[in-house]
Amino acid sequence: MIGKIFQLVITLLFLASSIYAQEAKKVIIIGASSGIGEALTHVFSKNNYKVGFTARRTEKLEQIQKELPNKSIIKTMDVSKTDEARKKLEELIQELGGLDIIILNAGRGEATKDLNWEKQEQAIAVNISGFTALATLAMKYFIEHKQGHLVGISSITALRGLPNAPTYSGSKAYVSNFLQGLRSHAAEKNLPIYVTDIKPGFVDTPMVAGQKNKFWEATPQEAAQQIFDAVQAKDSHAYVTKRWRLVAWLLKIIPDWLFDWVLAYQKS
Ligand SMILES: NC(=O)c1ccc[n+]([C@@H]2O[C@H](COP(=O)([O-])OP(=O)(O)OC[C@H]3O[C@@H](n4cnc5c(N)ncnc54)[C@H](OP(=O)(O)O)[C@@H]3O)[C@@H](O)[C@H]2O)c1
Repeated sequence: MIGKIFQLVITLLFLASSIYAQEAKKVIIIGASSGIGEALTHVFSKNNYKVGFTARRTEKLEQIQKELPNKSIIKTMDVSKTDEARKKLEELIQELGGLDIIILNAGRGEATKDLNWEKQEQAIAVNISGFTALATLAMKYFIEHKQGHLVGISSITALRGLPNAPTYSGSKAYVSNFLQGLRSHAAEKNLPIYVTDIKPGFVDTPMVAGQKNKFWEATPQEAAQQIFDAVQAKDSHAYVTKRWRLVAWLLKIIPDWLFDWVLAYQKS
């Protein structure tokens, strides 16, 4: 009798551990040493994901890793060095033991109203070249494995060019259109690969610190939770926070002259 109970307990423990092992999905967050990316590492780890995360500042990554409740892997990576970054992403996928979700969050958002080429070049290198280099690798991986979820962090500014940040808003329009293309690519192949385009409004992070005229500013934690929810729901598009859908609607319909007038009025 005792032997049978012992056998039953062992079987139950084995079943429980194999269910747990199956459920530990793997997510990679690119650009996670501060702001939204950092908050995302916490939300995913808290929800029992095995998290891999990257950025240039190794010491920040190490500090965040210590705070996470579950196993994680960090990798120092500069996405603007595309060949090296792609190699490091491949390594990270291997070290993680596979990949279910990738969140391409790294971004630069300096104002370039002086049309300073160096700043614009850096934004393009991160927001466009780095983004494309890693998104393409991840998508090919998902196609090969016949499943996956690619998430890109675009911006509400993707919907309208901004006078003080034309390169940033232009780069985010690229991100959103590129994601649309990848979504159609997956649909053509009839594979369960999801592509989510996240368009945040203002989020209180180092990127927008000191910026004037901000409104409806979310905390990084609120933004990360809403992004997590959109990923769980496999949404194609999400505004963060949700009320920015209203601004998006306005940005899509107002004529150029009214848009320019509002910005000029806000400045005066
Ligand atoms: N905050 C907002 O209001 C807002 C609104 C709309 C969209 N977004 C988008 O949200 C994303 C996250 O931004 P955030 O607001 O959280 O700003 P943030 O705190 O400045 O975070 C930016 C992240 O990108 C990483 N990064 C920058 N350049 C990189 C490079 N060359 N290689 C690798 N990683 C790099 C940074 O890490 P290292 O510096 O350590 O490399 C950092 O982890 C960005 O794509 C941004 O455009 C933000």
